Amino acid sequence: MNVKEAVIGRRNIKQFKPDPIPNEQLMEWLDAASYAPNHRMAQPWDVLVIGPETREKLNHKANFGDAPVVLAIVAHGAGTEMDREENLTAAASFVQNFSLVAYEAGVGVRWTSVGGKAENREILGVSEGDVVVGVIGVGHPTDVPAPKTRTPMAEKTRYLP
Ligand SMILES: Cc1cc2nc3c(=O)[nH]c(=O)nc-3n(C[C@H](O)[C@H](O)[C@H](O)COP(=O)(O)O)c2cc1C
Repeated sequence: MNVKEAVIGRRNIKQFKPDPIPNEQLMEWLDAASYAPNHRMAQPWDVLVIGPETREKLNHKANFGDAPVVLAIVAHGAGTEMDREENLTAAASFVQNFSLVAYEAGVGVRWTSVGGKAENREILGVSEGDVVVGVIGVGHPTDVPAPKTRTPMAEKTRYLP
């Protein structure tokens, strides 16, 4: 699989098999993800590995597709809007990197926004100003959804003089 095939082939996975993901493998993918671009080498992300107690408290309707692993990716807050946006952008790149290396290993990611809710931020113990970029289920997919068509980029590209 080359990078383009991974980028195009990756899907947001809804449901997972119970097969465990060894922590060593998880850490390998997270280390790879940390090569995401980030301004001033801020590395403005943290990862929370969500244990069973916390997971129950989050009370996700679909239980993250029964994923064997659930992670929260947190982008650091900052003193200026520009730095906050840059941190969020870098942390989102981190999630995409993680998704792609996991995908190469046959493992899928279910990206959820549940970390945006105030009560869930509290459950996760997220500091004020930090942003939960995603709470993601990680595991071997039971099935892979068909790709959703994208708008051809020719329609969304403008050429400036
Ligand atoms: C910031 C962000 C938040 C997302 N939150 C959710 C979510 O709460 N629930 C969900 O089903 N998918 C969520 N997704 C995944 C998108 O639904 C999914 O990427 C999109 O439908 C395109 O499908 P694909 O990733 O399989 O190409 C999120 C994606 C991003 C980037």
